[in-house]
Amino acid sequence: MATIISGLDYSQIQRDSIKARVTKLRQKHSVIPGLAVILVGEDPASQVYVRNKAKQTLEVGMKSVEHLLPKDTDEATLVALIEDLNQDQSIHGILVQLPLPDHIDEALIINSIQVKKDVDGFHLTNIGLLSTGSKKAIIPCTPLGCMMMLKDQMGSLSGKKAVVVGRSNIVGKPMAALLVKESCTVTITHSRTKNLEQECRQADILVAAVGRPEMIKGDWIKPGATVIDVGINRIDKEGGGTKLVGDVEFASASKVAAAITPVPGGVGPMTIACLLENTYQQACRINGIAEF
Ligand code: GUN
Repeated sequence: MATIISGLDYSQIQRDSIKARVTKLRQKHSVIPGLAVILVGEDPASQVYVRNKAKQTLEVGMKSVEHLLPKDTDEATLVALIEDLNQDQSIHGILVQLPLPDHIDEALIINSIQVKKDVDGFHLTNIGLLSTGSKKAIIPCTPLGCMMMLKDQMGSLSGKKAVVVGRSNIVGKPMAALLVKESCTVTITHSRTKNLEQECRQADILVAAVGRPEMIKGDWIKPGATVIDVGINRIDKEGGGTKLVGDVEFASASKVAAAITPVPGGVGPMTIACLLENTYQQACRINGIAEF
């Protein structure tokens, strides 16, 4: 049986560390990191994420601001709100929950956030910094959490064959860039990939981020591989009710892999911890404080 990589445990350690650093920042520099989260519309899954983010932001001693806007909010109103937050000295991170409603230009909104307050790492400048391997990049939260768990589990990733299933801007593409930076040989696969199963079977590191419940089966996995399951899919349970599952079929995969993240309790909790880490970093940078 595979080792279960507990994102819950990792994220608790990370949040404890952030909490201690936030306390020091307040005591030594009178700085309280502030995170503003904007949600447009009423998507239930997004509402849950936004609520969790706010709760955990407060728990580590940071300031949390939420803007919950109706789904027919126009682009100009959203940009005006972001511009206000860009000027607000008590705010060091601005996150606009994605996806946005179709009538809003996502790229325009993301790039109207000041680079120094981008905590998602989605601003074009941060994408460029990550692509060029710069240490100055703010790294997207989900891939950052995945990398922390991978490195802790495996040590050096150099020379490993990594396969990323999914090519989204939020996970697949930045994940691939991070794996390249760690000297992995990386394949990005997607819905048009031929022989996807065979591609997956080559992987020492398999990162699944397609949003298809339990698509990747145990016999797609190379024995001894490390599997990171980014999927969070709600499906109907036999006998009624619903449950959360990943993109990987956990029961079969955990018999083949050396290590695997569960769903829930794997990548999800790490994503929020990394958002808090990025907010802490931006608060330090904005105030010219060497991170400690
Ligand atoms: N929607 C799903 N994941 C994310 C994320 O990491 N950041 C934002 N802003 N929206 C998301």
